[in-house]
Amino acid sequence: MPDELPPDLAHAIPAGRRGRFEYFAEIGSTNDRAIALALEGAPEGTAVLADTQRAGRGRRGRDWHSPPGAGLYMSVIVRPAERDEWTIVTLAAGVAAARAVTAATGLPIELKWPNDLVIGRPWRKAGGLLCESVGSGANVDAVVVGIGLNLRPAAYPAEIARRATSIETELGRAVDRGAIVAMLLDELDRVVTQLRAGDRAGVCEAWRQLAAAGLRGAPVRWHDQGRDRAGVVRGIDDDGALVVAAEGGLVRIVSGEVTWERLSSD
Ligand code: BTN
Repeated sequence: MPDELPPDLAHAIPAGRRGRFEYFAEIGSTNDRAIALALEGAPEGTAVLADTQRAGRGRRGRDWHSPPGAGLYMSVIVRPAERDEWTIVTLAAGVAAARAVTAATGLPIELKWPNDLVIGRPWRKAGGLLCESVGSGANVDAVVVGIGLNLRPAAYPAEIARRATSIETELGRAVDRGAIVAMLLDELDRVVTQLRAGDRAGVCEAWRQLAAAGLRGAPVRWHDQGRDRAGVVRGIDDDGALVVAAEGGLVRIVSGEVTWERLSSD
């Protein structure tokens, strides 16, 4: 059973959305709860937020450290009408998350392909997205957009402090979680409406603007079938793949770990 909304969220979540918003003081993973709700038929826009997660997960099977009172952990159900929509939901969600944090706090957020929210030089990670589909292939019935944001330094483990940051660390002041959540829900609605209207190109262009530093001309390294490879980023295509000029021609990278030579600290 969900818990009662704490005061910061009670102020921020409009009455019209309360029926599609669940809050948990503690949960395993908000993505798991949102997947279960999607399977039960919950409508688009249904959101699950927790103050702490016991089993928060990130990309590539990693844990997502989610201690209480330190971060924003939320999952939102999107119900794509067509395949074209869900293939770029991660990019669309990145645009929404970057815009929301900037609008709610004034902090400029950049996007790092495929799903990181970063700040400064070298890039420091302030958050990430994990989109998981419910159903597969032509039968994707819903996509759960999981968003993890570091609000305070306690949100990330000390061993990654060189590459991570928090919104409050960057701003040097406290932020209002409720304002960020409200803005996130609005911005997600906005990009999903844009996708539904068929403006995939507009969403990709917005992503390119927010990710500009890591795109045209940025040197990168990655592993491909046991080989170290290097190249120069050309951009992203309209399916969300990273396009890199490398020995032998253009390469489309659709998943995996990519290191930006001049922008990452690793
Ligand atoms: C990443 O950068 O690897 C993605 C991190 C995504 C974490 C969020 S927190 C809310 C949602 N629930 C989860 O278990 N994971 C996502």
